[in-house]
Amino acid sequence: MKEFSKVALVAAFLSTGVSAGALHAQTAEVLHWWTSGSEQAALGEVRKAFEAQGGTWVDTPVAGGGNARAAAVNRMLGGDPAAVFQFSIGQQLRELADQGLLANVDQIATEENWDDKLPPLIVKAAKYDGEYIAAPINIHGENWMFFNKQALEEAGVEVPTSWSDFMTAAQKLQDAGIIPIGLGGQPWQERILFNSVLLGVGGRDFYAELYSTLDDDVLASDTMGKVFETFAALKPFVDESSPGRNWNEATNMVIKGDAAFQFMGDWAKGEIIAAGVEPGTTVGCALAPAIDTAYIMTVDAFAFSAMDGQDPTPAQAKMAHVMLEPDVQIAFNKKKGSIPARLDVPANSFDACAQLAIKTLQDPKTHLVSTGLFGVPSAVSGAVDDSISNFWNSADMSPEEGQEQFRQAISYAK
Ligand code: BGC
Repeated sequence: MKEFSKVALVAAFLSTGVSAGALHAQTAEVLHWWTSGSEQAALGEVRKAFEAQGGTWVDTPVAGGGNARAAAVNRMLGGDPAAVFQFSIGQQLRELADQGLLANVDQIATEENWDDKLPPLIVKAAKYDGEYIAAPINIHGENWMFFNKQALEEAGVEVPTSWSDFMTAAQKLQDAGIIPIGLGGQPWQERILFNSVLLGVGGRDFYAELYSTLDDDVLASDTMGKVFETFAALKPFVDESSPGRNWNEATNMVIKGDAAFQFMGDWAKGEIIAAGVEPGTTVGCALAPAIDTAYIMTVDAFAFSAMDGQDPTPAQAKMAHVMLEPDVQIAFNKKKGSIPARLDVPANSFDACAQLAIKTLQDPKTHLVSTGLFGVPSAVSGAVDDSISNFWNSADMSPEEGQEQFRQAISYAK
């Protein structure tokens, strides 16, 4: 349609009162927790593409994943849903579909053949009852270890490849007056550190078995005992100002060299890039020390509230289309620190850490899923975060007590 006739059409709608619906059809309120500098820059790429295709974007940022998810769900339950909301694919999103709260975008996914473009694990996790309920944009890894190379040099330590090496390195860093671990002291960040230790000490099969079975014997096992001992031994290597700290502030400590290491998802790399540092240069990346190689994945997506039945509105369908566009996947992920969800987009221009992620994922044995939103029901995920945080922040709780408390919390929640 030519520009002048579009304007005429809008004017006509405005005068007849039909306008609201027609214009509204291309408007999407987008509720998300991408509030850090790099997250906003990455999200800006999606917005730009959506607007270039005629969409109107109403931005609703809510700081903190837990807060944003609660807001999205409360809005749906209260009958005032945001059309589009950020979520990770997996079990917890399916719980919302189970309650009839979501629109599905299966028609557009079928037309665009998403099944062939996304890895099978993502295809499965983005569907409910065989139909797509979300548009995945990336793969993040949660078991990364970022480090300031100069800090390591100053203390005369190498990049550790086992947790016992890490303890030795951390002691030397501390003796040299450098904070060994920049930790954001919020339950979900403490859990990310814990899961890296769990994977590192127990190995990938143990991690997978634990979270897929939630079995009491596994939770009470000697291996789990070692995990808690190792995790507890990290406590002295975190500074006193950790409680409440945001993840991106912790990343900044590593960029500046105030802290040597951060154990965090590769959204931290987004902040490193946004600070003008090429990942792998002054700030290095490696997978957290582990007895075997694995990648704890979490996949960001937009999901769609049921606005008027299960069919998507035109704006929701447009957003689903935009999220999977190759150029959007490339531009978004380069700023976000993640790698594209689509297998067929060229990723050779991505940084060295992304190349390591891509190479690692080529072996399906490395594929693990996050307990955040992907792999376990919401009640279990909450229990994991709460009991880990409780243990981490209780000076007097022994590793044995921590393990037992974790076992009980999971048994109760499952
Ligand atoms: C999301 C990331 C986000 C991070 C911190 C994670 O749950 O997957 O995309 O950057 O939270 O906000």
